[in-house]
Amino acid sequence: MKIVLSPSILSADFSCLADDVQRLEKSGIEDIHLDIMDGHFVDNITFGTGTIKSLRPHTKTNFDAHLMVTKPDALLAGLADAGVNSVTVHKEACVHLYHTLETIKKLGMDGGVVLNPATDYESLKYVARDGLLKKVLVMSVEPGFGGQAYLPMSTKKIADLAEWRDKNKFEFVIQVDGGINIHNIKTVIEAGATDIVIGSAMFKERQIEDNVATFRKAIEI
Ligand code: DX5
Ligand code: ZN
Repeated sequence: MKIVLSPSILSADFSCLADDVQRLEKSGIEDIHLDIMDGHFVDNITFGTGTIKSLRPHTKTNFDAHLMVTKPDALLAGLADAGVNSVTVHKEACVHLYHTLETIKKLGMDGGVVLNPATDYESLKYVARDGLLKKVLVMSVEPGFGGQAYLPMSTKKIADLAEWRDKNKFEFVIQVDGGINIHNIKTVIEAGATDIVIGSAMFKERQIEDNVATFRKAIEI
């Protein structure tokens, strides 16, 4: 299974976002994780569709938007228009999850569902069909801020989710987000995650190229 490294630009320098994304791209990164926060679902505010649209012409990388907002449906058309390729929505924020995933698909993007640390995955069996669920994102911190410590119980959750997926023959990939560093990345991959979001550790000391290389070396890709 191919391992995808998805740097989160939450830890980038917002005054030179295009430069930072290009540095990642030149280092071989193909997917960029975009954390959209509205100050309601989480206690932080980042950026929206306007910023993403401005960034789009500067890179060919895939844009993967993680929506930490109370009204994700209101943003979907704008995200598609801004050139976003995939969108993950929080299960806790979606009252009509099936409908939201259907809308994402109709807009030509890949849909996924994010689970907060205390959220179960079993009810995802109702949406894991019709090509609606391409990804499940396991939060390994409470969402809202970069630089938090990995919650150790996330490892078992990833392993359980992977087993449940395989037993039921679902095909979504497992993404993990929060507190990933050079010491725990192998653990989450061994548990079953194949798409690894890395924020602060990827931008550490602004040594972006070296950090990408160090992560690659750690997991031998
Ligand atoms: C947190 C965000 C993450 C964040 C991860 O709510 O969803 O994507 O950027 O940052 P680190 O890797 O520093 O935990
Ligand atoms: Zn995120």
